[in-house]
Amino acid sequence: EKKKAIEALTRGLVLTNDQLEKVSSLLLHEFNCGLAKETHQKASVKMYPTFVQDVPNGLEQGKFLALDLGGTNFRVLLIDIEGDKFHMDNVIYPIPQRIMLGTGKQLFDHIADCLANFMEKEAVKGKTLPLGFTFSFPCKQEGLTKARLVTWTKGFRCAGVEGEDVVQLLREALLRKKINIDVVAVVNDTTGTLMSCAHKNRECRIGVIVGTGTNACYMEKTENVETWEGDQNDSKQVIINTEWGAFGDNGCLDFLCTRYDREVDEASLNTGKQIFEKMISGMYMGELVRRVLVHLVQEGLLFSGKCSVKLKEANAFKTKYVSMIESDGKYTYDNARRVLAELDVFNATPDDLENVKLVCSRVSTRAAFLVSAAISCILNRIKRPHTTVGVDGSVYRYHPYFHGLMERKISELTAPDYKFDLMLSEDGSGRGAALVAAVAVQNSQ
Ligand code: BG6
Ligand code: GLC
Repeated sequence: EKKKAIEALTRGLVLTNDQLEKVSSLLLHEFNCGLAKETHQKASVKMYPTFVQDVPNGLEQGKFLALDLGGTNFRVLLIDIEGDKFHMDNVIYPIPQRIMLGTGKQLFDHIADCLANFMEKEAVKGKTLPLGFTFSFPCKQEGLTKARLVTWTKGFRCAGVEGEDVVQLLREALLRKKINIDVVAVVNDTTGTLMSCAHKNRECRIGVIVGTGTNACYMEKTENVETWEGDQNDSKQVIINTEWGAFGDNGCLDFLCTRYDREVDEASLNTGKQIFEKMISGMYMGELVRRVLVHLVQEGLLFSGKCSVKLKEANAFKTKYVSMIESDGKYTYDNARRVLAELDVFNATPDDLENVKLVCSRVSTRAAFLVSAAISCILNRIKRPHTTVGVDGSVYRYHPYFHGLMERKISELTAPDYKFDLMLSEDGSGRGAALVAAVAVQNSQ
């Protein structure tokens, strides 16, 4: 009957440990390609060195500004670090779609305007504070304050920024707006996450984001990084921003991709790119579920074969709906009913509700398992007896089972000698950017 047919049509979303182990070993291969000089150019997983070479030592201090661009919200922050105490104020500023898809100049002018507004509010106008810039996109870094955007990802596509140094673009905008601020560091959100967790927990060596996008960074020995062009100083290690979202862009994950993944990719701003990210992160998860549901309706397996106009709209099924529906208890469907009403679906039977929940759970479980395979790849590579993994992002934070699914799956896929724990990062971008800024200021003095 229907349930069987639905299970069969969504079977491609269910991954076995054999498949996940294959994912893990393919990713290890991609890591090595990204790190080696000869193959880096062609590699899809770029493994960018970040120029951050140490985790915090606890002695960082001072007052810093931070910008956080690339997650759900654009924020400006003021952070006061004193030993292990942080004081933080932040304001969220919306970025209208026309700016996300406009020109680079418009984007950076907008950022500068928000910063000016914030400094006025916080009564630090006229002070020259050091600023850490969390810019959560793939950048080739040439120093702590030099990062060339390689390609936009997620919902951004501003003209004239790819190939440019985003710190330079920010400085130019600050100059235009006569804001006297010192940009002392640019970091990826994964680096911010790693740093802020490491500040609390000495064993933290990996930072992961499962939010609008997905990515990870980890501490690597410089001897393993052929592309490293920074100093060969005492620390002998450097944080690598893997940009694992681009895993699969060379076709190596095609064996896992379902028709729904291909549809989501086709309809995206960056077709053919960020294939792994599109199977996992919040920008795409709801849309994947929606596409499965529409297919099931077309097959006459849901809602008596009738599809509401709303459900046919791209992105109408928000990723937070997945978390809501899965938060309903066993055989209860209050949230599911609410969500379907939002989508103008009023004729769902109890079987339909159960099947919608099944689809949500198959899509989110696959995402959790894929992230787990990727984390386990790093744990098996760095071979530490115990590693804390700092994690942030809306999917990890708000999905009711994500953390638990990840714990279980990572244990299954990682050698038993390498223990780990997953730690929710508290405001990686704010704290992390400030910590990196603090070290930069210290080193320059
Ligand atoms: C936030 C961090 O907590 O998580 C951001 O401060 C980061 O820097 C974000 O980009 C990722 O999650 P999301 O869900 O907002 O994309
Ligand atoms: C995208 C970006 C990456 C970022 C991640 C999470 O994958 O390319 O830089 O870390 O999203 O925000």
